[in-house]
Amino acid sequence: MSEWISLEQIDEAANYLRGRLPFQPTVGVILGSGLGEIAELIPNSVAIPFNEIPNWPQSTVEGHKGRLVVGEFEGQKVAISQGRVHYYEGYSMAQVVFPVRVMKRLGIQTLIVTNAAGAVHPEFEPGDLMLITDHLNLIGMAGLSPLRGANIDELGPRFPDMSQAYDRQLCEFARQAAAESHILLREGIYICLAGPSFETPADLRFLRQIGADAVGMSTVPEVTAARHGGMRVLGISGISNKANLDGNTITTHEEVLQAGRMIVPNLIQILRGVLRRLADQP
Ligand code: HPA
Repeated sequence: MSEWISLEQIDEAANYLRGRLPFQPTVGVILGSGLGEIAELIPNSVAIPFNEIPNWPQSTVEGHKGRLVVGEFEGQKVAISQGRVHYYEGYSMAQVVFPVRVMKRLGIQTLIVTNAAGAVHPEFEPGDLMLITDHLNLIGMAGLSPLRGANIDELGPRFPDMSQAYDRQLCEFARQAAAESHILLREGIYICLAGPSFETPADLRFLRQIGADAVGMSTVPEVTAARHGGMRVLGISGISNKANLDGNTITTHEEVLQAGRMIVPNLIQILRGVLRRLADQP
């Protein structure tokens, strides 16, 4: 597959899925590293392996399952991507956001993105959840945008607004859902780096100074594509590790996956609460 994605390639995948799905989903969910098991909760779901969907990028990282799980969850018709691909795997930014494009063409209006992230805020601890209230698109500022290249007008405008990337009402639903389940929900700014190496202490001091609370290697491209397509977005980070500010803490992928197991039960409660509130909307 080339760096660029065409509308035909997106629609080929969307049409294939339409033929296999029991209904049209309205909410898309992307599950990050170590969080994929959430999709196992959906009763009577249809699970389609990514390698059966035309043009769908295949994840190569441990902790990412590689299936699209579709079913009803808390009164909502959801399509859950169990895993994602990242820029560092060798995919282009356009390929990274391919699943979001397909969701958009399937008629999905609301996207919930999750990820595993490192704490940059000094008070955040592994196992915490953080509501993403805004993001720093550092890789985008450096030129790596999923929207680079000819604009596909059928998907969205050339210069999309990003003034409210994370939907205020969905943020409020997440706060309410966390409160009713007595879950501490941190809030903050997520910053996306290309990875795959973790940050140096100097990197992290820089990230803190420019206003980041959590750091990861995903989500921002997907949210950019989702907003380009006019979707409402909710983003939640699972804090998997402390930032290595002092140079004495070593970050490993195993640690990230391990923290996912602590984060999953709370994230499930919040997702349930948000979906229930969405279902209750007139
Ligand atoms: N840095 C970048 N990405 C991450 C981290 C981190 O510390 N933890 C999980 N994803």
